[in-house]
Amino acid sequence: MAEEQHLITDQRRYYPDAEAARDTWIGDYATAYEEYRNSPDKFWEGIANDLHWTRKWDRVLEWNNPDARWFIGAKGNITYNCLDRNVFNGRRNKVALIWKGEGEENERIYTYRQLHAAVCKFANGLKSLGVGKGDRVCIYLPMVPEQVIAMLACARIGAVHTVVFGGFGSAAIHARIVGSGAKVVVTADHSVRRGKTIPLKHLVEEAIIDAPTVEYVVVLRRETEHPIELHREMEVDFDELMASGSRRCPCEEMDAEDPLFILYTSGSTGAPKGIVHTFGGYMVGAYYTTKYVFDVKEQDTYWCSADPGWITGHTYVVYGPLMLGTTVLVSETTPDYPDAGNYWDMIEEYGVNIFYTAPTAIRMFIKMGDEWPDRYDLSSLRVLGSVGEPLNPEAWEWFYRVIGNSKLPIVDTWWQTETGMHMVTTMIGEPMKPGFAGKSIPGVVVDVVNGEGEPAPPGTVGFLAVREPWPAMMRTVLDNRELYEKYWNTIGNIYKAGDLAIKDEDGYIMVIGRSDDLIIVSGHNIGTAEVESALVSHKAVAEAAVIGKPDPLKGNIIKAFVTLKVGHEPSERLKKELIYHVRITLGPIAMPSEIEFADTLPKTRSGKIMRRVLKARELGMDPGDLSTLEE
Ligand code: PRX
Repeated sequence: MAEEQHLITDQRRYYPDAEAARDTWIGDYATAYEEYRNSPDKFWEGIANDLHWTRKWDRVLEWNNPDARWFIGAKGNITYNCLDRNVFNGRRNKVALIWKGEGEENERIYTYRQLHAAVCKFANGLKSLGVGKGDRVCIYLPMVPEQVIAMLACARIGAVHTVVFGGFGSAAIHARIVGSGAKVVVTADHSVRRGKTIPLKHLVEEAIIDAPTVEYVVVLRRETEHPIELHREMEVDFDELMASGSRRCPCEEMDAEDPLFILYTSGSTGAPKGIVHTFGGYMVGAYYTTKYVFDVKEQDTYWCSADPGWITGHTYVVYGPLMLGTTVLVSETTPDYPDAGNYWDMIEEYGVNIFYTAPTAIRMFIKMGDEWPDRYDLSSLRVLGSVGEPLNPEAWEWFYRVIGNSKLPIVDTWWQTETGMHMVTTMIGEPMKPGFAGKSIPGVVVDVVNGEGEPAPPGTVGFLAVREPWPAMMRTVLDNRELYEKYWNTIGNIYKAGDLAIKDEDGYIMVIGRSDDLIIVSGHNIGTAEVESALVSHKAVAEAAVIGKPDPLKGNIIKAFVTLKVGHEPSERLKKELIYHVRITLGPIAMPSEIEFADTLPKTRSGKIMRRVLKARELGMDPGDLSTLEE
């Protein structure tokens, strides 16, 4: 703990430029927070009143811990707020989406009118395949406009989307299709990364074996000169489906508590958890935080570099910014291709005002050198944001100095798939402390607590927890009530986030990392158990244990300890084969960086693998209590 203690005593403060902090939507943080605390219902009602509903709520909240219902009796559709409202209220010909792909001039632009039409057409196309309210649709697409269109089309007709990140492999897709009971899967022939095309459809072909709910696979064929063959008995062409539909499609009227989407996140068992979000509360939370945390203004061009396959993309690429009628940049490109100036080139070229990215990317930029950002004019930037893992003080200071010209506010936002929206950050105008995400935003009550839910003394490590319900909170874990309840009944009756954190004397929160068996690799949440079961599915592997190992660039890397079945010998060749096996089944993001063959793994007497012993040994730390360790 010595290092954290040191950070706490040695903390520095930064104040954003007066210009950046002037006329923010939030105004004075303390006043806004007090308004919320004095009357939470009134606070949230005020936000919800900014949005379009076909019927307003009878009550704001009904809370029977752990079950929340928000905006009871209210009805509407989130896509009305993302699209129709903008089309009818003066933003008809405003740019909604700028898509930038790899290569010169490879861009596609949609105005709000065009995006509205495309969404309606695809929504009608889905209807023609028999998709209706409550049906599940799995979207496995690269970062192309069609990904956004498909999500909104589902929401428009009340179908529940489950977006699977394009970097997942066939077993991971299969688990999500089967788990959600998807009727239709939407995919593409390939994605593009660093000048290469990466085929995708064959992964879906494998993933839908033994997935009896799937009736159709819709395929976006990006390669038009030599398009891939479709298996017409099941596969439908994306563009043909679009072309068949009218550009008018009324919004399905949704109840505030109807599910909007399921998004899978890693769990502590091998199976991923389907986090369920509902329309009303999520809509209000996404709208509020996008507007107030990033302080989005009418003229802004907004870029969140996350993939819509993650929660960050759901809330802060798609739903939040479109509800605000913002011009949203979406890019399939990577930070270092064709060269290390790519992101800065895009910021200059499109005049990006708000830039939201991940610590891993920031650490990579640092490594590539200041000469890259220095070549570009970044003066359009007004607000910087970070998400996904702790933004270490060195990375914070670099981001502030080099990209923020020592004056821009940085919002380091802590939140989760489960929370649906930002929970902790330093609101614009408040003093910023490198290494600290900040305080609870108005509308939520986050705390650092001990095992009983009592506040941990300032400066000491505790569990990150949420004391009060908030509108965008998940409503359940799909088909697993018990797992849902665990979030709310593990420490007292407050929400346990699964992170360790420290709060300082001023109430600023520093997030340290996970307290469970999840590993955050480059900001992606990966379950040790999921990687272990992928390894064990290889014919040579008897047992596997996976740990996260700190890494200066990625935050953590995955290290696997593997014991082999009789008849298999350790070799470099086998290491490669195992890594390849994980790549194909789970995807490149879950690949172990290191594999070590072992004769045995440390276990408890009841046979549970003790990862913490392996981790302690790996990091040269004290393994702690070993009394349960088997001889
Ligand atoms: O450990 C925290 C880390 O990411 C976890 C949530 O992962 P996921 O559900 O995939 O959502 C990621 C994007 C919201 C958290 O439990 N995390 C997220 N943001 C931060 C963070 N850790 C430190 N600082 C953050 N700003």
